[in-house]
Amino acid sequence: MTDFKRTLVTAALPYANGPVHVGHLAGVYVPADIYARYLRLKGEEVLLVGGSDEHGVPIAIKARKEGVAPGDIIDRYHHMIKESFAGLGISFDIYSRTSSSTHRDLASAFFKKLHDEGKFVQRSSMQFYDEQAGQFLPDRYITGTCPHCGNERAYGDQCEACGTSLNATDLIHPLSAITGNAPELKETTHWYLPLDDYEAWLKEWILKEHPEWKPNVYGQCKSWLDSGLQPRAVTRDLDWGIPVPLDGCEGKVLYVWFDAPIGYISATKELTPEWETYWKDPETRIVHFIGKDNIVFHCIIFPAMLKAEGSYNLPDNVPANEFLNLEGEKISTTRDWAIWLHEYLVDFKDKQDVLRYVLAAIAPETKDSDFTWKDFQARNNNELVAIYGNFVNRALVLARKYRDNRVPPRGNVTDRDREMLEEIPGAVERVEAALDAFHFRDALREAMGLARAGNKYLADTEPWKIAGSDPARVNTILNICLQVAANLSALMEPFMPFSSARLREFMRIAPVAWREMGDDAIPAGHLLGEAGLLFEKIDDETIQVQVDRLEEKKQRLATNEQSLAPGKQDVSIDDFASMDMRVGTIISAEKIAKTKKLMKLVVDTGMDRRVIVSGIAEQYAPGDVVGKQVCVLVNLSPRVLKGIESRGMILMAEDADGKLSFVAPDGQVAPGTVVR
Ligand code: MF3
Ligand code: ZN
Repeated sequence: MTDFKRTLVTAALPYANGPVHVGHLAGVYVPADIYARYLRLKGEEVLLVGGSDEHGVPIAIKARKEGVAPGDIIDRYHHMIKESFAGLGISFDIYSRTSSSTHRDLASAFFKKLHDEGKFVQRSSMQFYDEQAGQFLPDRYITGTCPHCGNERAYGDQCEACGTSLNATDLIHPLSAITGNAPELKETTHWYLPLDDYEAWLKEWILKEHPEWKPNVYGQCKSWLDSGLQPRAVTRDLDWGIPVPLDGCEGKVLYVWFDAPIGYISATKELTPEWETYWKDPETRIVHFIGKDNIVFHCIIFPAMLKAEGSYNLPDNVPANEFLNLEGEKISTTRDWAIWLHEYLVDFKDKQDVLRYVLAAIAPETKDSDFTWKDFQARNNNELVAIYGNFVNRALVLARKYRDNRVPPRGNVTDRDREMLEEIPGAVERVEAALDAFHFRDALREAMGLARAGNKYLADTEPWKIAGSDPARVNTILNICLQVAANLSALMEPFMPFSSARLREFMRIAPVAWREMGDDAIPAGHLLGEAGLLFEKIDDETIQVQVDRLEEKKQRLATNEQSLAPGKQDVSIDDFASMDMRVGTIISAEKIAKTKKLMKLVVDTGMDRRVIVSGIAEQYAPGDVVGKQVCVLVNLSPRVLKGIESRGMILMAEDADGKLSFVAPDGQVAPGTVVR
């Protein structure tokens, strides 16, 4: 730590295709913010940089689905994300975005330099192409049948039914998500970073030089390195991204994972003219806060890019976290199984620190962890209110009651007093050691330990019992309690900056710097301010509202996933128009013998009278349906069922339980009337 003059802290750039949720916060942003605030309090030179990741296929897909431009999507979410981070007190020195011109220029120049210096290899490959759309298809733009489980709606990169990762060419009957046509394979050319050339160096750098990296990070790197690295494409055929800065590359962009990490550099550049000091001076160290799905990009690919470029520092540490689950289930943006930060900030106004506290306390540091509303409530009520809030409140109330709201002088100290006073540097030291090792949960527990010790001290010394009999002793006890409270305002600051500010207001003190912590953080005679409650109990009803909301989401998910038929591929208007649907009248009906469901209907279609076999016999009697006007698909190829030729199909609505009902015009129309 002492070998460095300054620290650049980065927090993964969230994709601007959705809001931020508690999983992002617990894994990345709360720890990054705690760490940056801690270094600032220590008076170190530090920058916290971040921004939105605004390129890539998912953003392009979302825009296409909503029928808007990708620029609309990123604008919507970038501002939302930026504001919600600010609302939670994530103290970015800059929160930028990868659509900025600084970033485009820097990322293009980075690519160009590597290209011109021959650091890439160029390769051609066969890739699916949609003739009608006139473009190559990213894997996500292709759907088809999963070769493993038969799911008909698997994506070209993954089957979400069985979880297998796929190549688009693995799919049976691949179809373009843009036009619904079968795509064809066509040759394309891309630039690759030959990671295999960096393998030996990476092994040396990570496995030998960084044994101190977290075991989850080190382990993942080791397994990547052990299984051997392959060249990685750094360009894509896509119409959304930073154009490949070479001649004759129309329709090609930089791969989002090539440009995004360069976003850390561009953000620093936008922030300060000193940016190169933060990226190139060997006395700067870089720390990347990320989630586990980002490890390979930050520990292997980006470092290889930086190494190839040659002028930048490499990360000193990458304290990646595992994942946070919500009420026992994986958080999912697409399934809306999440607690969204912007909603929390509305529902729990002025309770930013409660969320920060809970997420730091349960951060998935070594393994996945679980957020539940009950636990959130319990930690607020039993820890923040009952320990930290309670101690501070008692200290301040006692000072007001017995000493006119002034800090009394400290007289002779007993062993018990000394024990309490020594807890202060002890707690500071343990919090520091834990934070320096990126053990945020332990650090928070140690900080809370000081408040806990304060409560214990009050319970042991009981100053209220000697208020009349031993004023000198009361002075000493209250002085010590107020020292502890003042120290807590600093010790808790990295974790809970909002309540630290409130506490300072209650005590009428200026921010206490890290090195000012100790047994005379607040002078005798100091007039305290107006005390209020640092934390408030959260009642069962408030929590129930959130639990119910999640329960509703779960119901909705269950309906979508189990009962409702899965959605289908988009079809073109031409596909739709190719179906000849008309209103017809059922003239006669009879059950087909030896079948359960089938009924033979004769239908007047306006053009002819024809036989149609329909599977309605379990739910309708012939007498119910004769005379009914119904919708008929008349150009369905004839089929023979139970020896009867059926020409067409009656349109029925069928719910999740299989209950049928006719789709019919809402008034009498002439047979043969077109449905479209
Ligand atoms: N957008 C990526 C994600 O959410 C993270 C990008 S981090 C960066 O997984 F390094 F690329 F910036
Ligand atoms: Zn599958």
